[in-house]
Amino acid sequence: MKVFISGNIAPVGLKELEENNISVTQWKENRQITPEELIEACKDQDALISVGPNKITTEFLKACSHLKVIALHSVGYDNVDVPAAKALNIPIGNTPGVLSAATADTAFLLMLAVSRKAFYSHKKIIKGEWKNYEPSPELGIEVNGKTLGIFGLGKIGLEMAKKCIGAYNMSVIYHNRSRNEEAEKEIGARYVSFEELLAQSDVLSIHTALTPETKDKFTLDVFKQMKPNSIFINTARGGIHNEKDLIKALEEKIIWGAGLDVTNPEPMDKDNPLLLMENVAVLPHIGSATEETRAAMAQIIVKNILAGLKGEKLPFEV
Ligand code: DGY
Repeated sequence: MKVFISGNIAPVGLKELEENNISVTQWKENRQITPEELIEACKDQDALISVGPNKITTEFLKACSHLKVIALHSVGYDNVDVPAAKALNIPIGNTPGVLSAATADTAFLLMLAVSRKAFYSHKKIIKGEWKNYEPSPELGIEVNGKTLGIFGLGKIGLEMAKKCIGAYNMSVIYHNRSRNEEAEKEIGARYVSFEELLAQSDVLSIHTALTPETKDKFTLDVFKQMKPNSIFINTARGGIHNEKDLIKALEEKIIWGAGLDVTNPEPMDKDNPLLLMENVAVLPHIGSATEETRAAMAQIIVKNILAGLKGEKLPFEV
């Protein structure tokens, strides 16, 4: 059996594939594979491990309908035309659960980095601008005891909420399509309308999937409903906020700051104005990039691949 991997997975995954006599071909270039190259690469393969934002479109699926399984190296599957895959009987696997803690760590890190202008201050040292002790440099704000708003209280949102309660005794409010009563009981989170979430959050952290409903959800009009001293955090998908509107909201001090691990497009252009702003911290989509999480993801991927190749139900199917 043959598998094409459109990027890198943790060594433990490669080892397990080898132990199962699966021959692996990997995309090794330091750029995203193009749709045409992906079709070509999958021509004589039995399965695909899709790493990164490859678009698994109807066109790709029709051209590669011989694939027995596609295993995503992600929990998110907004890049996949799932109905088309179902129609063609190609099971799609993802990696839920194992990356919640690491992704929530990234949201927490961004919240603190923004609130204390950490990335901006770091850049000042690099530029040789640390000349003297400054008691009042560009001052940060504290999050202790403030209100955390979660947009999308699933596994990752819950982890973020727990960290913020434990570390800073923050009150948690959330908005979902439907209530998460288990989480309400577990951490005392309060369900609010979307409008209330905007009006009351000191830190608003996005943990929802990118869907037609959440695409471009955070526009200038929405930012205008947030507190002027609020911090916007997005570790979910860049398509959920409108980047031009976010830049405007920050420039016009409609909101106080923003921390992003996801941008639109990705990669972000190095001349993007967000990168020069004091109250902004941007990371290159490293939300779940830890040794432990990548290893756990690779092991789930192999389970999905092995099941798919045998024609069995995937243990983690979207
Ligand atoms: C995920 O798992 O969805 C991460 O964002 C990596 O793409």
